[in-house]
Amino acid sequence: MFESLKPVAMDPILGLMAAFRADTRTTKIDLGVGVYMDDHGHTPVMASVKEAEAQLMQLETTKSYQGIAGDPDYNQRTLELLFGAGQSILNSGRIKSIQAPGGSGALRVGAEVTQRARPEAKLWVGVPTWPNHIPLLGSAGFEIEEYPYYDRDTHQINTDAMMETLRQVPAGDMVLLHGCCHNPTGADLTHEQWDQIADLALERGFIPFIDTAYQGLGDGLDEDAYGLRMMADRLPELVVASSCSKNFGLYRERTGSITFIAESPEQVEIVASQAMAVARQTYSMPPAHGALLVSLILGDQQLRANWEAELAEVRGRIQSMRSLLADNIQNNVAGIDFTHVKMQKGMFSFLGLNTAQLDHLREEFGIYIVSSSRVNLAGVNSNNIDYLSSSILSVLK
Ligand code: LMR
Repeated sequence: MFESLKPVAMDPILGLMAAFRADTRTTKIDLGVGVYMDDHGHTPVMASVKEAEAQLMQLETTKSYQGIAGDPDYNQRTLELLFGAGQSILNSGRIKSIQAPGGSGALRVGAEVTQRARPEAKLWVGVPTWPNHIPLLGSAGFEIEEYPYYDRDTHQINTDAMMETLRQVPAGDMVLLHGCCHNPTGADLTHEQWDQIADLALERGFIPFIDTAYQGLGDGLDEDAYGLRMMADRLPELVVASSCSKNFGLYRERTGSITFIAESPEQVEIVASQAMAVARQTYSMPPAHGALLVSLILGDQQLRANWEAELAEVRGRIQSMRSLLADNIQNNVAGIDFTHVKMQKGMFSFLGLNTAQLDHLREEFGIYIVSSSRVNLAGVNSNNIDYLSSSILSVLK
């Protein structure tokens, strides 16, 4: 049977991660996969997560099945984190969230449910987007359409072209948006752009599907939620896939959520039942550990304060590495303007290097950057900044 299968190339980001791990040079630098690293180049377990794990060791009395929707306390606390405790949408009865295996699992459940609701709906994705969006959501059945997002020449969102295309999106189609810390460009929608897209969604009748995987890594937990909170207030329907991989550092624990807002409480119950059917038919139940930790952290005043402080440190370190790298390059190459790198949000920016330059950096200097020229600024640290800057300068000159 298997003789008919052809090998599939590894996902480019995960392929780069494997190549980095296999590289034996001690000077190598990983600017590839979107994982936070501290100033020692290490991806630590957050202290608040460690503390929650210690508590969980004592509290946990069973490993019995948890249920298709995951932990109810986690689901409620995630809703509050995303949409803001006390916000009217949370008391509307029109919103429902279920735990999912990471942001990717959440995207998949969201896609399958919306495909069941409207099989003819197309999904509009910005160019560029996270490379796995297309295989992940496309294989759930969506026909994918594109809208222009980022202009590589101006290093800005191409607002006119984006709005022009979104103006053509038919009613009932879905439009994928990045909640914050756009992956791969770091170029986030302004409040005004969010508001304009919401106006268009109301006018045209398309439904935003928001992927929010980096809440708290841009400007702050509340600031990074502007778009999704505003849309939750204004739109009759919304789908939000979220992840605790980055802001809680729970990558391998696969902790995420899929949230639906429907027109009425009756409808959202039906949608949630469909989401649970999708879950049951694919992975049955989400993994428990990460969600129990998130629930403990968000439910305890002290742990939550500690976590927020750690997250602020993560955010601050990434921002300072942005500035340092941008200044190092900009001040040493005539005609290069890296101001955009400083202004962008979250882990990523495009450096604008071409394939030959990226190959050169990897082969000669052991510097790993995704082929789109996306860099993870968390991979920059005080030990490697000089080597990194001089290597980039040498390929730019
Ligand atoms: C990334 O974009 O590097 C991360 O979201 C990790 C992944 O799964 O691709």
